[in-house]
Amino acid sequence: MAKYIVENSGPLYGEVEISGAKNAALPILAATVLTDGVCEINEVPRLKDIDVMCRILRSLGAKVEENWDEHTVTVDGSGINVSEVPYDLVKLMRASIFVMGPLLARLGKATIAQPGGCAIGNRPIDLHAKGLRTLGARVMISEGMVYAAADKLTGALVYLDFPSVGATENIMMAAAVAEGTTIIENAAEEPEIVDLASFLNRMGAKIKGAGTDTIRIEGVEKLHGARHAVIPDRIETGTFMVAAAITRGNVLIKNCLPDHVRPVIAKLIECGAVIQDEMEGMRVRGDINRLVATDIKTLPYPGFPTDMQAPFMALLTTVSGSSTVIETVFENRFMHAQELSKMGANIRVDGRVASIPGDKCPLEGAQVVSTDLRAGAALVLAGLVAKGTTEVSQIYHVERGYENFVEKMSKLGAKIRLVED
Ligand code: EPZ
Repeated sequence: MAKYIVENSGPLYGEVEISGAKNAALPILAATVLTDGVCEINEVPRLKDIDVMCRILRSLGAKVEENWDEHTVTVDGSGINVSEVPYDLVKLMRASIFVMGPLLARLGKATIAQPGGCAIGNRPIDLHAKGLRTLGARVMISEGMVYAAADKLTGALVYLDFPSVGATENIMMAAAVAEGTTIIENAAEEPEIVDLASFLNRMGAKIKGAGTDTIRIEGVEKLHGARHAVIPDRIETGTFMVAAAITRGNVLIKNCLPDHVRPVIAKLIECGAVIQDEMEGMRVRGDINRLVATDIKTLPYPGFPTDMQAPFMALLTTVSGSSTVIETVFENRFMHAQELSKMGANIRVDGRVASIPGDKCPLEGAQVVSTDLRAGAALVLAGLVAKGTTEVSQIYHVERGYENFVEKMSKLGAKIRLVED
């Protein structure tokens, strides 16, 4: 198994270019199932999860061309005629569930293995099922398989008990070609939802309100092919912002949208980092003030993103003063705390609350395990400032979510290399 070897690196300096957003590209690629036309998606990050989604689309009958020099994926959906998603692909990636709504809308049925839970929680799909049933589909979940069928999808009012990102996306895609109008209430407001809605509207959908808690979708007869450029990845942006802060460095982050990372900007400023808008991007400086503690509480957008909780916790273990981290989105997203503790961090976890008393001692390099992609990134950040060497194993998680991670970090002066065991 591959692992990262991370040495104490000192302050990071230089500039980094943010890639397209994984969590926007995945539902947008799934949405190409909705049309028999040709779609060209640009700014797609080259990641293992994207590769799995392309393989899923091919298994359904689509023609998929990947051009990684251009970061473009072109999908010709005219040949889509398979309604069952292969189990061996679904088990590789939870986001496979995003094709359920489009398949149901395109072919009238969808069969997909229930995506497994993962380290951070059991991640049910009850809200996806509830939404599609409300649109008139029959959805049965048995023995780990999800069977959905609908002679016709009819617009309806769907209330989401929790603003689930995936459920909002699946329902929005199915509703785009349902008969009549659908209103999703208590919808997720993430920028990736807005990006998906703008792609669907380019395909001829009539969606309003994406980015708010109420999305109105007027069903149309048919969607046509379209071209779209995916938004920059706000979690990759936040990760490199924290990398600049934790190493007390000075990094210019290019091709990012500061508006998508307002909570991370606010919290880094509370810690004493200096963030400046420049012509070419956003500059993050951890080298001006002594960094101090703050508290974070994860919430659905526009709250502090759960995907930034682990990287930010790594930072908080290196500042003076006590911090509290509250994780409200996933039920088990503190596994990185025990890994950081192996590096000398002093973190007390009690349910959804992690307490980090101000540590005086610096972190020590250790052998640690990446339990999910954001935890892996957090452990690398900790390794950059720990004394000695840190070995991060199970890094396939990280490779799933961060394009050219080692290369981008190394260009900033990080001493990190990938080694095969
Ligand atoms: C998306 O996952 C992201 N993944 C996650 O990013 C991100 O952490 C999450 O949204 C929250 O922002 C992709 O977009 C591919 P949810 P998703 O449905 O859609 C519960 C990463 O690091 N829930 O908003 O699965 C669920 O258990 C990944 O890139 C239900 O109860 O997230 C969780 O507690 C990790 N029933 C909460 O809602 C449902 O039917 C949020 O889940 C669906 C979700």
